[in-house]
Amino acid sequence: EQSIRESLFITLNFAKDHFIENLWETDEGKSIGLSYFKERGFSEETIKRFDLGYALDQWQGLIDAAKTAGHKDEFLEQTGLKIVKEDKSYDRFRGRVVFPIHNITGKVIAFGARTLKSNEKGPKYINSPETELYTKSKILYGIFQAKNEIRNQENCYLVEGYTDVVSLSQAGITNVVASSGTSLTEDQIKLIQRYTKNVTVLFDGDKAGIKASMRGIDMMLTGGLNVKAVPFPEGEDPDSYSKQLGGEAFKKYLDNNAQDFIAFKTGIFLKDGGDDPIKKAESIREIVQSISLIPDPIQRTVYIQECSRLLHVDEETLISETNKLLLKNS
Ligand code: CTP
Ligand code: MN
Ligand code: MN
Ligand code: MN
Ligand code: MN
Repeated sequence: EQSIRESLFITLNFAKDHFIENLWETDEGKSIGLSYFKERGFSEETIKRFDLGYALDQWQGLIDAAKTAGHKDEFLEQTGLKIVKEDKSYDRFRGRVVFPIHNITGKVIAFGARTLKSNEKGPKYINSPETELYTKSKILYGIFQAKNEIRNQENCYLVEGYTDVVSLSQAGITNVVASSGTSLTEDQIKLIQRYTKNVTVLFDGDKAGIKASMRGIDMMLTGGLNVKAVPFPEGEDPDSYSKQLGGEAFKKYLDNNAQDFIAFKTGIFLKDGGDDPIKKAESIREIVQSISLIPDPIQRTVYIQECSRLLHVDEETLISETNKLLLKNS
């Protein structure tokens, strides 16, 4: 007997194949979906590597195809592919390009779907709801495609979005996963830790991205990870910037601009605060707070020395402030 979970996996896999077929075999998919991906610079190889697809602009495109293929309606609902409202039911994803989300063994557990309209009122992305198979906070987009590379390269690039993962991978940076726009969770950090202790954060160069990277960095320091970050120019994200620079120059940019978290945070604080002493004091406190999260005392010492150098504060002060926080946290 097939378990319910197995049936849900089968239904999700059918949907993935259906969206892929739409993209490559239908007039609508080719002229709208495939050309959208190509305009964004995604190669056919890349589109296939990530199983990207297209949901037709119909109310029941998937529902009808699933019925014809003999899939039970209840599984479409339990996987979040079908929305049921009062006496009506319809496809969740319509007229959008589709990014399947795989678990670590490569099975599809959910989808993200992007609108093709540039100035729409509706949401840019629609995602699967949480289901029996999909808990958003426990998965990272791209982990299946990236896991071996993360282990081999002994580093994981962490980005915000689906398209960042796809673009970087195409540029040859295949050890990359996305938090998918939500703030990083402990489970996601543990997932990375299965493969490496080293993370490089590449979040969007906007207010939200900077805020999210600050918080993410602190969480990863608490988990004992070695964290670096790369700043991006205002308004750029790893996808847009890699396209702007081209793959090779982008790789150089990453190598030349990867900073440890102290230099990264210092850079951002100095940019915001300049020489203002009150802002500077605030920045020092923030960085000391981050240092106090690091479990390893030797690493803490090294980072205190760096902080002292970069911000011209004497080490004694930093040590005593760190120790106060350590006492408070213990
Ligand atoms: N996101 C989402 N729902 C939204 C907006 C964003 O789920 N309404 C998630 C998606 O996973 C998205 C990520 O947050 O990839 C980052 O959002 P954003 O930077 O706004 O989008 P990009 O990934 O840069 O997408 P694009 O380049 O297509 O605009
Ligand atoms: Mn964002
Ligand atoms: Mn953004
Ligand atoms: Mn972005
Ligand atoms: Mn983007």
